[in-house]
Amino acid sequence: MSKVIAVTNQKGGVGKTTTCAAFAGIFRRNGKRVLAIDLDPQGNLSFSLGAEDTGLTVHDVMKGKCTVREAVKHTRICDVMTSNILLSGTELELDGSDREFVLKRALSQAENDYDAIIIDTPPALSILTINAYTAANDLIIPMTPEVLSLQGIAQVKDTILAVKKYYNKSLDVRGILLTKYSSKYLLSEEVAEMAEIIARQLGTQIFDTRISACIAAAEAPAHQQTLVEYSPRCRAAREYTRLAQELYPDLAGKSF
Ligand SMILES: Nc1ncnc2c1ncn2[C@@H]1O[C@H](COP(=O)(O)OP(=O)(O)O)[C@@H](O)[C@H]1O
Ligand SMILES: [Mg+2]
Repeated sequence: MSKVIAVTNQKGGVGKTTTCAAFAGIFRRNGKRVLAIDLDPQGNLSFSLGAEDTGLTVHDVMKGKCTVREAVKHTRICDVMTSNILLSGTELELDGSDREFVLKRALSQAENDYDAIIIDTPPALSILTINAYTAANDLIIPMTPEVLSLQGIAQVKDTILAVKKYYNKSLDVRGILLTKYSSKYLLSEEVAEMAEIIARQLGTQIFDTRISACIAAAEAPAHQQTLVEYSPRCRAAREYTRLAQELYPDLAGKSF
C-alpha cells in the first residue's frame, strides 16, 4: 500500500510544487518507488520532474480514457502523471454523484506499484482539489510568512473539513509548513497568531521545521533536477530532508 500525500494551499507561489518535487527527490534517493501526480493544469510539477507534456495525462485517467499505468511517464527522477491545460476543464466534465472519488478509484489500480504517491494541487478550489483530498492519506499545507498565504489556507479550510466529514474520514492534516522563510522576512506576530488559530481549527500544527528562502530552490526546476540533487547541501534541501525524515522515516530514511 502506498502512502498518498497531497500538498495544498489555495494561494499560488507558496511552495506547493517545490515541496512535492523535494519530497519526490528525497524518497527516490532512499530507493523508494514514487509516483508524482500533477493536478495543476499549469503543469509545473511535470516540468520540474522532467516529464514531457505530450501523450496521456491525468486528465485522460480522470475521464476514464486510460489506466494509471498507461498514463504514467517514467522520468530519470520518478514516475509522473502529467497534466496540461485540458485538465482545467475537469470541473465541467466530471458528473455523477461520485465525482469526488474519481482519482481515488483510479489510484487503487496502482497502490501496490508505489511506496509513495505525491499529489500537487492547483491554486484553486475545484473538483480536482477535492479529488486530491479524497484520495490522500496525508495533507501538507505550505505557506509563506505573509497574510495572503494564510488567507489561502483559510479558504481551503472549510473544504478540508467537509472532505474529512463526507468523503475521507481518515484524512490526516499533518501540518502547516512555513516556506521561503528568512530572518529578514519574519512571520509577523499577527500572522503567526492567525496561523495558530487555523491550525487548531484543522486539528493540526505548524511544523517546527521551516524551509528557508534559498536561491537553489528557485533554480532547480530549470535544470529539471529536484532540490536535493541540484544542491543537496543548501539550507532548504537540508530542511526538506529533515522534515521528510520526521514525517516519513520509512520513506525518507532516518538520517544520513
Ligand atoms: N524555499 C524557497 N526559496 C526560494 N524560492 C522558492 C522556495 N520555494 C519555492 N520557491 C520559488 O517560488 C516560486 C513558487 O514556488 P512553487 O513551488 O511553484 O509554488 P506553488 O506551487 O505553491 O505555486 C517558484 O519560482 C519557486 O522556485
Ligand atoms: Mg505549483
